[in-house]
Amino acid sequence: MRKKVTKAIFPVAGLGTRFLPATKSVPKEIMTLVDRPLIQYAIDEARAAGIKEFIFVTSRGKGALEDYFDTAPQLEAELRKKGKEDLLEILKNTNMDSGAIAYIRQHKAMGLGHAVWCARRLIGHEPFAVILPDDVIAAEKPCLQQMVEAYEETGGNIVASMEVSPDKASSYGILDIKEDMGSMVAVRGMVEKPAKGTEPSNLAVIGRYILTPRVLSNLNKMKVGAGGEIQLTDAIAAEIEAERPVYGYRFRGQRFDCGSKAGFLQATVSFALAREDLRDELAAFLHTVTAEQKAAQ
Ligand code: UTP
Repeated sequence: MRKKVTKAIFPVAGLGTRFLPATKSVPKEIMTLVDRPLIQYAIDEARAAGIKEFIFVTSRGKGALEDYFDTAPQLEAELRKKGKEDLLEILKNTNMDSGAIAYIRQHKAMGLGHAVWCARRLIGHEPFAVILPDDVIAAEKPCLQQMVEAYEETGGNIVASMEVSPDKASSYGILDIKEDMGSMVAVRGMVEKPAKGTEPSNLAVIGRYILTPRVLSNLNKMKVGAGGEIQLTDAIAAEIEAERPVYGYRFRGQRFDCGSKAGFLQATVSFALAREDLRDELAAFLHTVTAEQKAAQ
């Protein structure tokens, strides 16, 4: 029997420079899409996939993130007194079971691979998920749940992937495809941020992974890769070299790159338009501003 995936690492120790000055004092993961912080979307997705242990790799200045998952007795008492049951219900989602959440510090932003490696002792010898909260995925069935179901069939290492245009490939880890089986592809190699024109395919890795603990052993070697950082992609690629299976998984859903301003704004509009309480007002506003823009051109 394959071991179930019950642990997830959330690397949130990056500097978030693309959102300065906001990220000078607000962790990027606390920034809100409509009324929920990015991290809440990630946690909800992990819960839907059966994750029971949530491991955050944090850094200096991420205190707001830890507070977010705490109970807020004063606030809750006040809401109870006012009979605001709906708001109390919303808050419930932000509370984690005692012992279900752990925080590990990455003392220096040395790259995503290094951040994941920092959590190695909490993972032990089990398969685990990695979720990058910057990547928000709107999907009927949450993306990680789709991947866990695929993992139950195949085992191995699975990375979420999606087609990107050639001019964007150099911003991603790109898969070299051995065999395309539709929603799954067997991977022959992986290249982090390939130089323009050298990408082996247009299938890019995005921020959801199911990995075997061997990837953590590969990270022990701490090889510095693209951009002078310790890359998770390199540690996964080492599994392929050792002839252990790595798959790309074409998830069903729409991914928003909330680590970039344009992606964050697109996600905000898209999630707001999906909300009954906001849809009509926002759609009317968008209609007006686009008409005004067109007229001004
Ligand atoms: P990014 O490449 O988006 O970097 O990291 P960043 O620091 O968050 O943002 P920018 O580019 O400066 O604006 C992708 C994910 O990996 C985590 C980040 O927190 C983010 O979730 N990460 C990155 C770490 O945890 N540690 C690192 O050393 C690097």
